[in-house]
Amino acid sequence: MEYSIETTPIETLPCDCIIIGVYQNQQIAASGLELPSSLQNTINMMCKRGDITGKLGETVLINVLPDTAINRVLAVGLGEAKPLSRKSYRKILSAAANNLKKPYIKSLAIALNGVVLEVNDPQWAVRQVVEIFNDAAYQFTALKAEKEIDCKWQKIMIYSPEAGQAAANQGLKQGMAVADGISFTKALADLPGNICTPTYMAEQALELGKKHKELFVKVLEEADMKELGMGSLLSVSRGSRQPAKLIIIEYQSGKKGDKPVALVGKGLTFDAGGISLKPGAGMDEMKYDMCGGAAVMGTLIAAVKMQLPINIVGLVPASENLPDGDANKPGDIVTSMSGKTIEILNTDAEGRLILCDTMTYAERYKPDVVIDMATLTGACLVALGRVPSGLLGNDDKLCNDLINAGDEACDTVWRLPLWEEYQEQLKSNFADLANIGGKDAGTITAACFLSHFAKNFRWAHLDIAGTAWRSGNNKGATGRPVPLLCQYLINRTANA
Ligand code: BES
Ligand code: MN
Ligand code: ZN
Repeated sequence: MEYSIETTPIETLPCDCIIIGVYQNQQIAASGLELPSSLQNTINMMCKRGDITGKLGETVLINVLPDTAINRVLAVGLGEAKPLSRKSYRKILSAAANNLKKPYIKSLAIALNGVVLEVNDPQWAVRQVVEIFNDAAYQFTALKAEKEIDCKWQKIMIYSPEAGQAAANQGLKQGMAVADGISFTKALADLPGNICTPTYMAEQALELGKKHKELFVKVLEEADMKELGMGSLLSVSRGSRQPAKLIIIEYQSGKKGDKPVALVGKGLTFDAGGISLKPGAGMDEMKYDMCGGAAVMGTLIAAVKMQLPINIVGLVPASENLPDGDANKPGDIVTSMSGKTIEILNTDAEGRLILCDTMTYAERYKPDVVIDMATLTGACLVALGRVPSGLLGNDDKLCNDLINAGDEACDTVWRLPLWEEYQEQLKSNFADLANIGGKDAGTITAACFLSHFAKNFRWAHLDIAGTAWRSGNNKGATGRPVPLLCQYLINRTANA
C-alpha cells in the first residue's frame, strides 16, 4: 500500500472516497469546509434530516455526488463539538477504515486534519492514520488456497495543509515504520505451530539480517546454550523434537559506547503445557505463545525504518513446550545459567524458564534497561482482561516511561506491585526457587520469579497474555506491544 501527504485542494485529489468529519452539532470539521459548497449543502441537508447524526464513530457513505468530480464521501461522526481524546480519534479512524473495505474502493483521501485533538500533535495524528488503516487492511491469507481479499486499497492520501508539512512527513515516516513492524509481528504470530517452529523463527530473523544492513543477527544452537549453562531454557526444549534457538538481533545506530536497550521476547512457538498438559479447548491459541518474540523482531524492523539513533539488542528464546518422554516432569530440578536452581512444580510455567536464562545472557550487553515481553500468565487475563498489558519492574523511572509511552501510543499498560511479600510464594524445599507461586497473584509471582534474574540491571516486564491476540470470531494477532515499544524508543531519542 502506498501512503502520501497531500497539500493540493481536497476536491482535486483523484480518489474513490474522501473521508471527512461531522460533529454532533451538524458542523463539518475544518478540512471538510474546503469541499465544494454544493457538497456541503448536501451534507447539511442530510444532517437536518437526521441521516447524519455526527455521533462518535458513526459512518455515512454518500456515494452519488452530481456536479462534482468527487466519487464518494464518507462522513464520520466526531461526537460533541470539543477537542477529541486520543482514543476517540483512533475510534473514528477505525470506524472509517472498517467501512471502506469494499472492492470498489482502491484509493482514498483522508481529510481529518481539521479535527481538533486534546493533545495537538499533527505528527502523532498522521502516525495513527497509517497505523490504523494498515491494521484494517491486514488479512492473513498466506495459507488459504482460495484467497478472498476484502480490502483492495492501493493508495491512501492524507490531506495536510502546507504549514504542517514537516510534522506530517515525520508522522508518515514513523507511521509506516511502526505499521510495518506490526504487520510483520501479526503475520509471524498468525502462522500455526507446525510452520512457525523455533527454526522457522530463527530463519526469519536471519532473513531480516540479510534484508536490513543495520541488523546483525546470530542464532545460538542448543550446543551453544549447553556450553553457556542454560539448563533452564534447555529443559523446556527437551520435551519437544524441535531444537531450541536463541535469536540475537543487534541494531547499532547509536554512539559506540551507548548502552543498549535490551528487548527480550518469549518465543514459545507452541505451548501444550508439557507433562502438566493443558486442557484441549482453545489449545490452538497457544500457537500465539511466541508473540513476545515476534514483537521484538517487529520493533527492530520499525527501529531500522525510523533510523533511530540508538543501540538495541533483541533476544528471543524460541522453543516448543510439549510432553515428550524426555520432557520436564513435575518435581524436576534444573540449574539456570545464573547458577540458581529451579524446582519445576508445573511444566506449564515454561515461559519464565526460557526467559530467565535469556535475561542472564543479556547481562553481557551491559544494557541500560532490559524490557521483556511475554504471553506469560493466564492470570493476567483474569486481572486486567484484554485492555492493558501487565507491567511489573524494578525501576520506577523505566516503568513510568513505559506507562507514558503506552498512553501516547494507545497501547496501554497497567502496573502491578512487585513487593517482597509475594516472594514467599516461590520458596522451594529442594531448590533455590520454585517455578510457580500457587493460585494467588499468578502474574505477580511470575514476575517475582523473573526478578531474581534481573538483579544487575534496570528491568521491566510486560505480560501480554491478554493483549497480543484476540480470541473468538475475530481471532488473530494484534501486534501489541510494538506500538508501545516504538513510542518508548522514539521518546528516548527525543529526550536524549
Ligand atoms: N503461555 C501460557 C500463559 C497463557 C495462558 C497466555 C492463557 C495466554 C492465555 C503460560 O506458559 C502458562 O501456561 N502459564 C500458566 C502458569 C501457571 C502454570 C502457573 C498459566 O497461566 O496457567
Ligand atoms: Mn505454559
Ligand atoms: Zn507459555
